Amino acid sequence: MGRVVAVVNQKGGVGKTTTTINLAACLGELGKRVLVVDSDPQSNATTGFGIDKRALEATLYEVLLDQAGADEARVKTSAPGVDILPATVELTGADLELVDAPRREFRLRDALRSVRDQYDLVLIDCPPSLGLLTLNALVAADGVLIPIQCEFYALEGYSQLLKTVLRVRGSFNQALAIEGVLLTMYDGRTANSAQVADEVRRYFANLVFDTVISRNVRLAEAPSHGQAISAYDSNSRGAQNYRQLAEEVVRRAGEERVG
Ligand SMILES: Nc1ncnc2c1ncn2[C@@H]1O[C@H](COP(=O)(O)OP(=O)(O)O)[C@@H](O)[C@H]1O
Ligand SMILES: [Mg+2]
Repeated sequence: MGRVVAVVNQKGGVGKTTTTINLAACLGELGKRVLVVDSDPQSNATTGFGIDKRALEATLYEVLLDQAGADEARVKTSAPGVDILPATVELTGADLELVDAPRREFRLRDALRSVRDQYDLVLIDCPPSLGLLTLNALVAADGVLIPIQCEFYALEGYSQLLKTVLRVRGSFNQALAIEGVLLTMYDGRTANSAQVADEVRRYFANLVFDTVISRNVRLAEAPSHGQAISAYDSNSRGAQNYRQLAEEVVRRAGEERVG
């Protein structure tokens, strides 16, 4: 299979990294093999999976600059079945250093070619921008998963993201699909969350996952313990939500795709 999905939204703090880590771990629980690509210089996915950055011999930075293979740089995470192509703050430099490089938009796509078939799913955690790292993710991906936080202005900036997706489709990667839109940080106690969820469902229709991720403090605590939610607090609301999402992703992969 080896489907590649970019978790993307140029807004920060909408749940990209939380979704990447916990969806990967819950798919791992289902027996799937998952590779997480940490394509954010903040490297929160790497930290959240309990990786000791000082012990890394190579990271995504070296892979993008052709100084290491993806098979050399990937390491096992704390979650069974989940590997990660880790990042450190060094990745900040990649944007600039790749500006004049040949095939600069295809770096990640080329690098993943040798490993993607070893996984059921490759999940790319994107940075909060639409720069070259995100562009590489979109060129490498079969689909995009867009987390949307259930707050006012949830759709602000979306037209720019859509424009970027369309540009990538037109120039580099015709097959790029909208995998799904995920409602995150839903707070059932506020009318606001419900309103935003309604608006998003009207706008994106069947592209929105049935699963909604509720606001759950355990999800915010887990990364500082280097664990996915399924290990940190297996019975929490957050663990239940991400397990349900993993099941929905598996189910959808078996059905025909729209978008
Ligand atoms: N469902 C949730 N409930 C509570 N806190 C959450 C939830 N999802 C994410 N968070 C917290 O919100 C912050 C932003 O989430 P994060 O996944 O890092 O967003 P992004 O990667 O889009 O910047 C983090 O501190 C994270 O722990
Ligand atoms: Mg993040």
